[in-house]
Amino acid sequence: MREDPAAPSSPPVMPNPLREGLAEERLPEPAVMVIFGASGDLAHRKLLPALYSLTRDRLLPGRFAIVGFARKAISDDAFREEMRAACAEFARRRPLDPDLWSAFARNIFYQQGEYEDPAAFFALKDRLADIERTLGLHGNRVFYLATPPSSFASVIRSLGQAELAPKPPPPGAPKPVGAPPPFARVIIEKPFGHDLESARALNLDIHETLDERQIYRIDHYLGKETVQNLLVFRFANGIFEPVWNNRFVDHVQITGAETVGVEARGGYFEQAGSLRDMVQNHLLQVLSLFAMEPPIAFDPDAVRDEKLKVLKALRFIPASDFEQYVVRAQYATGSSAGQAVRGYRQEPNVSATSTTETFVALKLFIDSWRWAGVPFYLRSGKRLPKRVTEIAVHFKEAPHLLFGRRGESIKPNVLAIRIQPDEGIALNFGSKLPGPAMEIAPVSMEFRYGSSFGVEPPEAYERLILDCLLGDTTLFTRADEVEASWAWVSRIHRRWAEDAARQDGGELPTYAAGSWGPPAADKLMTADGRAWRLP
Ligand code: BG6
Repeated sequence: MREDPAAPSSPPVMPNPLREGLAEERLPEPAVMVIFGASGDLAHRKLLPALYSLTRDRLLPGRFAIVGFARKAISDDAFREEMRAACAEFARRRPLDPDLWSAFARNIFYQQGEYEDPAAFFALKDRLADIERTLGLHGNRVFYLATPPSSFASVIRSLGQAELAPKPPPPGAPKPVGAPPPFARVIIEKPFGHDLESARALNLDIHETLDERQIYRIDHYLGKETVQNLLVFRFANGIFEPVWNNRFVDHVQITGAETVGVEARGGYFEQAGSLRDMVQNHLLQVLSLFAMEPPIAFDPDAVRDEKLKVLKALRFIPASDFEQYVVRAQYATGSSAGQAVRGYRQEPNVSATSTTETFVALKLFIDSWRWAGVPFYLRSGKRLPKRVTEIAVHFKEAPHLLFGRRGESIKPNVLAIRIQPDEGIALNFGSKLPGPAMEIAPVSMEFRYGSSFGVEPPEAYERLILDCLLGDTTLFTRADEVEASWAWVSRIHRRWAEDAARQDGGELPTYAAGSWGPPAADKLMTADGRAWRLP
């Protein structure tokens, strides 16, 4: 297949002066990655392109193989051709380098099988042994579950039955003499469960086969550079931590806005809705990194222990004032980028009477010493006017206004952490206007990733796949974190179900596509004397 000549070519890679002299990254051990669901969208758009970009950046070991596993019957060569087209279209580094591609593609293989057929896993085992023998690999394996979630448990059970994923020795066990035993790790895509009960059941099920240390539950938001930078910003700098609490912070707004609608994913979204699709995972993960206490070390369990405490400290939404805390809505017809667009109920595979929310706004409290009394406002929606994900920390006003009426224009300081796009951080503060009078105007001090570092950030999947190969679970969600966030979110779903069951359950509010959500979302803020920031 030919590359698209119109595809944007990679900008020349400039040496980054800020990286000079830094130690080289660690290189993973030789391994095989098996991708279940290899014919799906995720493998095409994200996984293979990420693996290609990692190869191009020399971050994968020289001896590395990829085995695609899916239902359809195709040859190794046909699969390679499909993946070539996918990488040519979606890889961060384009156009493809032909020599590099040939070397990369030589170690791509395809294995046909049904996810529910245990025999297919014995066949896979033979195939892996064969590939490993030929390529001189030592049996390290990563299994990537990019299948529909209904297959997660059975795939893992079959991996166990075929002895493809033996548990590692218990922590503290005496080290074996000679080379360490090969590793077997499993990456599980979202959604991990549909509610608290199903997430618990899935955890129980997979723990029958796997040790928690082998499980990498992926949340691609944790692979975003700017999300990781939250940790660096807070804990590598001395001046922010002292103000990161209820003495200085008035409130925090977290926005995850998208301009796209549900596109071709109506069938999935009907079952999910924005609360499951964006809040239970991505926004609560961002919130927990933002709000957690400093961990005692930068290691996986120390970091995740602190995140878990935040999730466990989320106050359940009070049943009596539910509407003052939670707003949901669905997009109706409207416009996006100047084009008329249809409403959610007219999207393919969406019911004409659907009550699935495509927008949600929430007020929540974290009942901890640090955050007592500070409201966090979260909102996420599809078909909003702008694609932007940001955290805005609104600080309290200065305790005493010195400047009389001239000071009335002073706005409280806002620290805006822009997760995407235009990744960066901006601090807004009041400044004296030049001139003889003591006039004050808001100004902004900005840091932008693009201009400061001169390189594009890697794709989230690149970082997360690499971390898994290196055995680092810090940026993956642990079983207890997932359950804690479901425990909080499932109460909201239960309340919605109760409301819907009542005779006077009421209509789901709508908002015009291309607007910032329903008026009730604004009311949620104005009722507290606040307003959403225009990101
Ligand atoms: C996915 C959701 O997890 O995240 C999508 O299923 C959503 O509905 C996407 O569009 C947003 O990710 P990003 O990286 O584009 O912000």
